[in-house]
Amino acid sequence: MSLQNIYILAIESSCDDTAAAVMHNGKVLSNIVASQKIHEEYGGVVPELASRAHQQNIVPVVDQALKKAEVNKSQLSAIAFTRGPGLMGSLLVGTSFAKSLAYGLGIPLIDVNHMQAHILAHFIEEDDFEKPPFPFLAMTISGGHTQIVKVKSYSEMDVIGETIDDAVGEAFDKSGKLLGLGYPAGPAIDKLAKLGNPKTFKFTKPKVSGLNFSFSGLKTAILYFIQKQVKANPNFIEENLNDICASIQYTIIGILIDKLKLASKETGIKHIAIGGGVSANTGIRQALRDGEHKFGWITYIPKFEYTTDNAAMIAIVGHLKYLDGAYAEQNVMASSRLKI
Ligand code: KG4
Ligand code: ZN
Repeated sequence: MSLQNIYILAIESSCDDTAAAVMHNGKVLSNIVASQKIHEEYGGVVPELASRAHQQNIVPVVDQALKKAEVNKSQLSAIAFTRGPGLMGSLLVGTSFAKSLAYGLGIPLIDVNHMQAHILAHFIEEDDFEKPPFPFLAMTISGGHTQIVKVKSYSEMDVIGETIDDAVGEAFDKSGKLLGLGYPAGPAIDKLAKLGNPKTFKFTKPKVSGLNFSFSGLKTAILYFIQKQVKANPNFIEENLNDICASIQYTIIGILIDKLKLASKETGIKHIAIGGGVSANTGIRQALRDGEHKFGWITYIPKFEYTTDNAAMIAIVGHLKYLDGAYAEQNVMASSRLKI
């Protein structure tokens, strides 16, 4: 097949979203995500339920992705899939499906690292979106990860800082749970924060040296703060919800921006990209843009649909690896703790 006509079908099933995308020469033709509502009532992802839901969703989701793209299976150049990191049961569904389909069609199979994909989502061909030049810094912020990565090329990436406990998304989700905001709480906090004053309540930032992060202390501080205030006034949460959300979000953004400033100073790199579910946050997006005039950064902020888990980001890595001939063997194994 000519290199001018590369069609990739990508499958993402690392956590609680079943996603499939079709890409033509780096452009997204379809990007379908089936979010699993079942976890909402449990206040977090239940792994066993997630893998069962993936099994139910995967065929219709892939089917829909191909139909929307108006691409026939026989036109596909390769199948890309998320090998890890993620929940083992969930990863196994996508991995087995991708293997069988690639084998059946007699086309290459390409394994993708989910965290690299959050970063390489910036290389999806999109009008009006600049691609970062190498080397650049990428901060991946999601429900499972918080990392600062020095990206030297499509395949060479060094993690230069990461969380030593909770991920930033968990800080949002766990704070939201205390406030009765449901799961995942990041989007709700984002929305309410817009209506509140971020300077109303002060939470101490964790003291972690270097480029690493810690969010578990903040979660405990917020828990004690809420307990104390509710004891004094049982209506405290309802009466102050917007200000509480704005203050929590402000603190979290402060922690992230401080570390990015340090990373930029230490590496001398001013091109800064963000990725992962939390990069959908309006406050973080604004703080990053503000960094352009405050610190001379050149920033790269992904389109909303490429922030939370999606298969378009898996497809772009599939496309880049296809160009390199970097295929996987049929005996490739899912890996829940796969490193960048
Ligand atoms: O990347 P992602 O979809 O899944 C993981 O790989 O974890 O990220 C999900 C996380 C959740 O913690 C969710 O609360 C958070 O991203 N999130 C947000 C926003 N949208 C999603 N956090 C803050 N503000 C948002 N607008
Ligand atoms: Zn993710």
